[in-house]
Amino acid sequence: MTEARLAVIGHPIAHSLSPRLHTAALSAAAKPGSYVAFDVRPDSLGDAVRGMAALGFLGANVTIPHKEAVRLYCDRLDGGAAAVGAVNTLKFTETGIQGYNTDVGGFLAALGSGIPGWSPAGRAALILGAGGAARAVAFALQGAGAGRIGIANRTADRAAALVAAVGGDPNLRPEDADLLVNCTSVGMGSEESPFADWERLRPGAVVCDLVYRPAETALLAAARARGHRTVGGLGMLAHQAALTWRIWFDEDPPLAAFLAAAHG
Ligand SMILES: NC(=O)c1ccc[n+]([C@@H]2O[C@H](COP(=O)([O-])OP(=O)(O)OC[C@H]3O[C@@H](n4cnc5c(N)ncnc54)[C@H](OP(=O)(O)O)[C@@H]3O)[C@@H](O)[C@H]2O)c1
Repeated sequence: MTEARLAVIGHPIAHSLSPRLHTAALSAAAKPGSYVAFDVRPDSLGDAVRGMAALGFLGANVTIPHKEAVRLYCDRLDGGAAAVGAVNTLKFTETGIQGYNTDVGGFLAALGSGIPGWSPAGRAALILGAGGAARAVAFALQGAGAGRIGIANRTADRAAALVAAVGGDPNLRPEDADLLVNCTSVGMGSEESPFADWERLRPGAVVCDLVYRPAETALLAAARARGHRTVGGLGMLAHQAALTWRIWFDEDPPLAAFLAAAHG
């Protein structure tokens, strides 16, 4: 069996949990391979991607700030990556470089396993944020048949652009929402919460936070205290990583290893 060369590229990259997850998965599956983190400056992105292809890498994950720019170096994009306008997974093949977005499927898988039996189909969802993660979640919810999608963002123009892109509802209020998803970076490494309108949120609404450090964010703690069901960011992190495995190896991923490494 040939050794699988894998990597994550970003700038900065030291904070990334991807090496821990993928190294644990390679080990659990007894697959020969290595997964390394490369700090790649924006002006070196093309050289880095072409370099990995030339060096025989099987695949790579792509993180901030390269998820949009890396599309330039892909020969093909899958449907999710094209819709979202961002790539978080590359596969180097004999016929070129393929770009994927596993945040879309990773979010839906984490929601499905976090709240078994609950589906966003026909429901109203309020997304906080309008960056790359918000775009992935918005298109995921659109694809899953969400009835109404609203976006609230610090920069109103970006919210309006994303609402228009997904055919969302610019007037969706917290009291309409069956699902609240934090896709801002607020709460990452802090005690801040991106949401305070708890009296207005529909009772029974599901609350998700993409932020995964800390695992129990201030948003999730406040939601739980008010009786909302919650889904934290580590599940999505594990599921999107497992989906990249499926793309690279074309086989079922060792999901338990990804989940254990994420929560470890
Ligand atoms: N769990 C997972 O698997 C997973 C996957 C992807 C991302 N994430 C997490 O999701 C978060 C967002 O990632 P991203 O890639 O979308 O980042 P991004 O493209 O940089 O977008 C950041 C978003 O957060 C908002 N924001 C930042 N600081 C804010 C503040 N102080 N107050 C209010 N809003 C603020 C920004 O609003 P403006 O538009 O006004 O700047 C923007 O909407 C990060 O914490 C990331 O780690 C988790």
